[in-house]
Amino acid sequence: MIPVSLNEEIRKGVEISFPSLKEMKNRELKEKILDAWAYSLQINGYTKVEEMPGSGMPEASALGDQSMHINAVVYNALSIYDNLSRAYQMDLGLDRELLLACAVCHDIGKPYEYNKENRARWSADKKHTGFPNVRHPAYGAFIALTAELPEEVVHVCANHSPEGRFVTRSGYATIVHYADDGSWFSLASLLDLDIPKL
Ligand SMILES: [Fe+2]
Repeated sequence: MIPVSLNEEIRKGVEISFPSLKEMKNRELKEKILDAWAYSLQINGYTKVEEMPGSGMPEASALGDQSMHINAVVYNALSIYDNLSRAYQMDLGLDRELLLACAVCHDIGKPYEYNKENRARWSADKKHTGFPNVRHPAYGAFIALTAELPEEVVHVCANHSPEGRFVTRSGYATIVHYADDGSWFSLASLLDLDIPKL
């Protein structure tokens, strides 16, 4: 359960940042996504997703803002799933709205990792805090669990990135992982961005 009262403006802003949420029929899941994103932004000093630069990690090249990156991953993930279903003419067995939720939430931990005060503090005392103190996948799992999002979403937050090498990724996490990497490495090639390969 989310332990603070959420700022309604921040919560409304999440729906504007991620237009694909308008397609969702599962009201309960959508409300939980809005709560979870608003919570992560609010407790880390942000009012909108767009306030974070459009990068995969704070050290990497940025393109646009963070909402653009996440929307690219949402569109990519849904098209991978839809295209495979269409080409192979079969039901591949995932819940498409849950895949959308997983993609929208995959970087929900970034407000902690990107927060400038956190980074300055961690950077000044790496011996004690490590740097970064917690990457966005672990923090994203904390947010998803606190907001009582489905465990499919928790798993994607925790394992869409290189952290997922240590588990068997779900179908949702595998698609989001390639949607995410596919967007970054395509953009790196198209626009000469510096995207580290972890
Ligand atoms: Fe991402």
